[in-house]
Amino acid sequence: MNSFGRLFRISIYGESHGSEIGVIIDGCPSGIKLSVDDFENDIARRTPGKVGTTDRIETDKPNIKSGVYKGFTTGMPIAISFLNDNIISEDYNFDGFYRPGHADFTANIKSNGFNNPLGGGHFSGRLTLPLVAAGVIAKKILQNINIQAKLIEAGGSKDIEKAVELAIEQGDSIGGVVECIADNVNAGYGEPFFDSVESVISHLAFSIPGLKAIEFGEGIISVKLKGSEFNDVFIDKNGTTATNNAGGINGGISNGNTICFRLYFKPSSSISKEQRTFNFKTNKMSEFEIRGRHDVCYALRVPVIVEAITAIALADFYLINKGI
Ligand SMILES: Cc1cc2nc3c(=O)[nH]c(=O)nc-3n(C[C@H](O)[C@H](O)[C@H](O)COP(=O)(O)O)c2cc1C
Repeated sequence: MNSFGRLFRISIYGESHGSEIGVIIDGCPSGIKLSVDDFENDIARRTPGKVGTTDRIETDKPNIKSGVYKGFTTGMPIAISFLNDNIISEDYNFDGFYRPGHADFTANIKSNGFNNPLGGGHFSGRLTLPLVAAGVIAKKILQNINIQAKLIEAGGSKDIEKAVELAIEQGDSIGGVVECIADNVNAGYGEPFFDSVESVISHLAFSIPGLKAIEFGEGIISVKLKGSEFNDVFIDKNGTTATNNAGGINGGISNGNTICFRLYFKPSSSISKEQRTFNFKTNKMSEFEIRGRHDVCYALRVPVIVEAITAIALADFYLINKGI
């Protein structure tokens, strides 16, 4: 289903080329000051505009439909919608092809052929806008927790601008690595097994289309280290550690140190370079060219989305810990 969370519960809906997309948030406490202006900064960080991002620029103005009265949350479900008003659907007549790497084939299977394929339909990066909106509210609940994500690498290079330019020149696409930290998270969030902090963050993170891997702390390199090298020794009675190889989580529970993790996003599937793939109408391998407006490197737009899903995960833990 398209809902997630226990006390801070979100549902997203809509299609890339439908009339609107949106989010319904259940469980947000009452009395939080909230206006349309609060969304401006985070939404602007997700909006295309940089070199290497799509030319499809929407107004992305949030329409708060319920759950807010006289500028404060009421504690009832909050519904926020966004219009889609910059659509060119002709680009999505692929005439027997499914874009290799994209979700066109699986979307068709899932809906028994009744899926909306335009702009990727419900399987579109556009659906991350409602996630960002929910993240704005989650960040407000968390108050003192500071969450920051940044793109640290694209196309295997630290020189992101150059990597993007090269991909554009080649009619190709690149992915990227986003690093996220959450500071001031209390020790004690999470459960030992199924609702560990890692599980819940990962569950939400994989709602960001294109994510292929996630590591907490020095998770990947840890396989090459010895216990004596990887262990984070304690340096005070609060549980502060000298290093943070565990990424602020032990046994699924936050340990009070900075929560940190990296996310690995694959290259966009829609590339202008010709690809040889199967045509399901002619039943033949054929040359396929994708037109239209696509992100060469959507990872440029992703950090604020990563912050949003982190805030949503932590807001849920926060409310559970407070027994709200
Ligand atoms: C903000 C954002 C924008 C994206 N833009 C594109 C795009 O323009 N073209 C494309 O092929 N994929 C794009 N993607 C990735 C696809 O949405 C994703 O690869 C696709 O839905 C299939 O999902 P999967 O890669 O997780 O299997 C974007 C992802 C995000 C998060």
